[in-house]
Amino acid sequence: MDQPILVTGGTGNLGRALVPLLVDAGHTVRVLSRSPQRPRDGVEYLIGDLESGQGIDAAVSGVETVIHGAGSAKGDSVKAGHLVDSLIRAGAVRHLVYISVVGADTTPFASRIDRATLGYFEEKRKSELIIASSGIPFTTLRATQFHDFIAAFAELGMKLPVIPTFATFSYQPVDVREVAERLVELSLGEASGFVPAIGGPRIYPMEDLVRSYVRATGHRRLILPMHIPGKAAKAQRDGANLAPDRTVGRRTFEEFLIEKQEGCLQS
Ligand SMILES: NC(=O)c1ccc[n+]([C@@H]2O[C@H](COP(=O)([O-])OP(=O)(O)OC[C@H]3O[C@@H](n4cnc5c(N)ncnc54)[C@H](OP(=O)(O)O)[C@@H]3O)[C@@H](O)[C@H]2O)c1
Repeated sequence: MDQPILVTGGTGNLGRALVPLLVDAGHTVRVLSRSPQRPRDGVEYLIGDLESGQGIDAAVSGVETVIHGAGSAKGDSVKAGHLVDSLIRAGAVRHLVYISVVGADTTPFASRIDRATLGYFEEKRKSELIIASSGIPFTTLRATQFHDFIAAFAELGMKLPVIPTFATFSYQPVDVREVAERLVELSLGEASGFVPAIGGPRIYPMEDLVRSYVRATGHRRLILPMHIPGKAAKAQRDGANLAPDRTVGRRTFEEFLIEKQEGCLQS
């Protein structure tokens, strides 16, 4: 247990749930972040940027296990490419665990419209393939959208007088803590390639999720479902982003909202 486990994205929603689980399990954790972080017991923070590649060689030095949880709306394949290049150069990694998204392999990308609307999924698929073809032993877990994604979408929408949503899209939100638990389990086991996805316990129309978030946070807004053009959007309207046979998550969106309200009251 002397070698640190490198977590990229350790400062994000998922990463903030993941890092303490690894520390509690007795591991030293190295977190890569673009900005300085306050030190914590059992956690070493290194500065680096997966987009530019700066600082990545130092971050992977001496590491055998990596959980790649860094991501953003754009450019995830560049990040995966830089990480893989550094890991190959370092030559010591035995297990690269990647968190991808349900729909990465089932959403088609045929046009600029597809890329402009749902290009995130194409980037996740490219990243999956970069990792799978790297020669590094890997495990890739696809997850449905996190509860926090719906919250962030609704928060952004509430800055507007009317919240636009994607007409007839559904989501199956999952709790990041459950995704984090599964990633810890996977990272401590053997590299297993693509493993069965993790999805939330229920599927909801997007409007219902956004509406319940708005109400739960004490706001009122009109919701305006908008038709999203393109084949990628059609595939997701048909459920490409859902895992109805993988409703393994236990915490519902309603429970997430209650926790959120209790958190608001405490603060
Ligand atoms: N959100 C969802 O619904 C969902 C669903 C399925 C899968 N996923 C995947 O799960 C992962 C985590 O998602 P999240 O929602 O927890 O993300 P998040 O809260 O947005 O956090 C993003 C993380 O990525 C890091 N990051 C971004 N760009 C970076 C760069 N250029 N170099 C280094 N680090 C960078 C950030 O670190 P710093 O800002 O500290 O540098 C941060 O820790 C992502 O790969 C995402 O695609 C998300």
